[in-house]
Amino acid sequence: MTHVVTEACIHCKYTDCVVPCPVDCFHEGPNFLAIDPDECIDCTLCVEECPVHAIYRDVDLPDGQEVFLEINARLITHWPVIVQKKPALPAAEHWAQIEQKRHLLEE
Ligand code: F3S
Repeated sequence: MTHVVTEACIHCKYTDCVVPCPVDCFHEGPNFLAIDPDECIDCTLCVEECPVHAIYRDVDLPDGQEVFLEINARLITHWPVIVQKKPALPAAEHWAQIEQKRHLLEE
């Protein structure tokens, strides 16, 4: 199993999730973070850290978010690891209210 970053992260990227990760499994893209499914140990520590509740266990993905399992696995192959929190994206508070933003993911 693994945990998965989903649509809610797009254009927010709060990065609180990376702080408790004991295995440095987060990778950073322009407006989204992805979890390496081979590194994640399902500790669940990141789940409660995300202000927009973007992180789910792969078997608990909400309807419509299943595609993010493949998206996370693909994006970690060309995005660098992130291990420290950084400021959220400038319009994060606005985008936190938007549900349909899959098409805005910058790969
Ligand atoms: Fe994204 Fe939430 Fe982490 S918005 S960067 S999954 S804290």
